[in-house]
Amino acid sequence: MQANTYSLEEIRNDFPVLNRRVRDDKKLVYLDNAATTQKPNQVIDAITDYYQNHNSNIHRAVHALAEESTEAFEVTRDKIAKFLNIQNREEIVFVKGTTEAINLVAYSWGRDNVQKGDIVVTTEYEHHSNIVPWQLLTQETGAELKYIDIDDDGELILEQLDEYLSTGKVKLVAISHVSNVLGTITDIHNVIKKCKNVGAKVLVDGAQAVPHMKVDIASLGCDFYAFSAHKMLGPTGVGVLWARKELLENMRPFQGGGDMIREVHKHETTWNDLPYKFEAGTPNVADVICFAAAIDYLTKIGMDNVRSHETELTKYALEKMSKVKGLTIYGPKDPQKASGVISFNFNDVHPHDVATIIDKNGVAIRSGHHCAQVLMEKLNVAATNRASFYIYTTKEEVDTLIDSLEQVAEVFKL
Ligand code: ALA
Repeated sequence: MQANTYSLEEIRNDFPVLNRRVRDDKKLVYLDNAATTQKPNQVIDAITDYYQNHNSNIHRAVHALAEESTEAFEVTRDKIAKFLNIQNREEIVFVKGTTEAINLVAYSWGRDNVQKGDIVVTTEYEHHSNIVPWQLLTQETGAELKYIDIDDDGELILEQLDEYLSTGKVKLVAISHVSNVLGTITDIHNVIKKCKNVGAKVLVDGAQAVPHMKVDIASLGCDFYAFSAHKMLGPTGVGVLWARKELLENMRPFQGGGDMIREVHKHETTWNDLPYKFEAGTPNVADVICFAAAIDYLTKIGMDNVRSHETELTKYALEKMSKVKGLTIYGPKDPQKASGVISFNFNDVHPHDVATIIDKNGVAIRSGHHCAQVLMEKLNVAATNRASFYIYTTKEEVDTLIDSLEQVAEVFKL
């Protein structure tokens, strides 16, 4: 038993896929949770129940199924509000995922608020989804895109942010709450405070934070916050953009279509109330509804317990991995400063080779650039291996990962 206040054994029973055997009948050791997490029976059952008993479109018809589906869909919005301490449910917009949320802001807010001469700031450890939309925006508008660099410990050099902010030209800082490659936890309260002092807006990419720690949007004080359901036990294809009501009210729609309108005439249209103005077309009804079961699951465990389980695992893994000859670990070495993500390289073996060899042992990690090529450039590597943990990961699984590296050493005669 490793968890402080929940039973690992009990919760693992909720995840059927964790009993899978893969390759040559090897027990699956799933350490690719930063890419997507596994789903408990509670979430799987919710989706089956929805299609078996309630399937209907929402916000349109008056029949019983439509009413049930609409209510369940809106219940998820309420649960998200409670989970993240969001005061106003109208500020919660359902999107496909974090990527769509950021693109929505870049388009609907960015195109009207960022001009030539302005600066948009991002960081060297962003995922492509928090770089490319800003490249497109700044290239189109003539604004400048600046990066906050990272230091040798994989932490942001915030003096650079001070420098950028001191120009008075920064319109937006788009920044990850947690790096998907290094696991670094951004000093987000400090970043937001600095930005607020000079009136710059802040967008936080919370894709790797909301699943792993308690996030309180009201106390953060940012302007936009984005995250995805599938990285927190929920289904793929659902994410959330939270934004301040006054910003959403003044932003142009992202997509036109059904449900986002109040009245449509031949040559003009008026918009629906928030958040529907940004939810054009039939949304991902089933997956939004079953996302509620994921939130219930995490709420029951408690996000502080999630965090302490992952911190303990990360500490354990870092200690053991630091003793492995030829292993280079990227990012913070202090588990308090990182979430349960460890990126590494093993001697000069290509990460795809490492991942392929240990996969034969049933160990699933991600290898490659992790959609963070700017960071790879900074680290001066083409790729890394990445092991990422979640609520159900055990110390024995971490041991299997480390033991499997011996096989890599054997194959490459290291
Ligand atoms: N963003 C996901 C990852 O980091 C896919 O792997």
